[in-house]
Amino acid sequence: MAQIIDGKKISAEIKEELKEQAAQLKEAGVEGTLAVIQVGDDPASSVYVRNKKKACEYIGIHSRAFELPESVTQDELLKLIADLNADDSVNGILVQLPVPDHIDEKKIINAISPDKDVDGFHPQSVGSLTIGQPGFVSCTPAGIIELLKRSGVEIDGKNCVIAGRSNIVGKPMALLMLRENATVTIAHSHTKNLKEICRQADILIVAIGKKEFITGDYIKEGAVVIDVGIHRDENNKLSGDVKYEEAEKKASMITPVPGGVGPMTIAMLMHNCVEAMTR
Ligand code: GUN
Repeated sequence: MAQIIDGKKISAEIKEELKEQAAQLKEAGVEGTLAVIQVGDDPASSVYVRNKKKACEYIGIHSRAFELPESVTQDELLKLIADLNADDSVNGILVQLPVPDHIDEKKIINAISPDKDVDGFHPQSVGSLTIGQPGFVSCTPAGIIELLKRSGVEIDGKNCVIAGRSNIVGKPMALLMLRENATVTIAHSHTKNLKEICRQADILIVAIGKKEFITGDYIKEGAVVIDVGIHRDENNKLSGDVKYEEAEKKASMITPVPGGVGPMTIAMLMHNCVEAMTR
């Protein structure tokens, strides 16, 4: 049976370290403020935003919440971002996604100053990651690297298959695994022989957004399995993109859902906020 990679425990350790760093920065006269912008009142987004504010409070950085109505115009949102970019008391800005259809998500992401882009979504942040220059790294993939390293998983030289190619997870994940000297394959919805390709993986990272799609026969005996998916059924039970009961019989290590990758995203957002304070 696979060893469980405990994201709750590891994220708590990281938050403890960050709290300490934030306290030291405060002693040196450096305070942190994260601006969190939410447009509309999507219930899932409200939960994420609330958790982000709570994490700031825990670490000891200020948060400024901007809860804008669904009807806000793109220009009004761009104006707010421009004001926050110019505000020296703010060192991190995030706009909770998705934004309503009448707002162009790309324009919003591009408007955030790369120096305050704690989500790591700005093209400059992504470009810097691609060519190994300093910049903010997208939180979920950065959290997965922490999960692997802190669980003692050797990445160097390993075959890593990433199922999913989103801008937020799959693509930056591939770049980070490459930076750690893995041999990286990105599989996606057009990939032929997905099962055979996944079965080559020493480390299999799944972010495809399909409930329990990856069954035991996609997994090599002894592989490390990271499940980024999260799905809630009608009884409020959570499950991932991986069929856990089958996967844990094949894998050497596996992340559960909930309590695996999920808690790492906010921990790494806090990491980026502390980094923004030190810049
Ligand atoms: N929506 C879903 N995940 C994220 C995230 O990591 N950051 C932001 N800003 N919005 C999201």
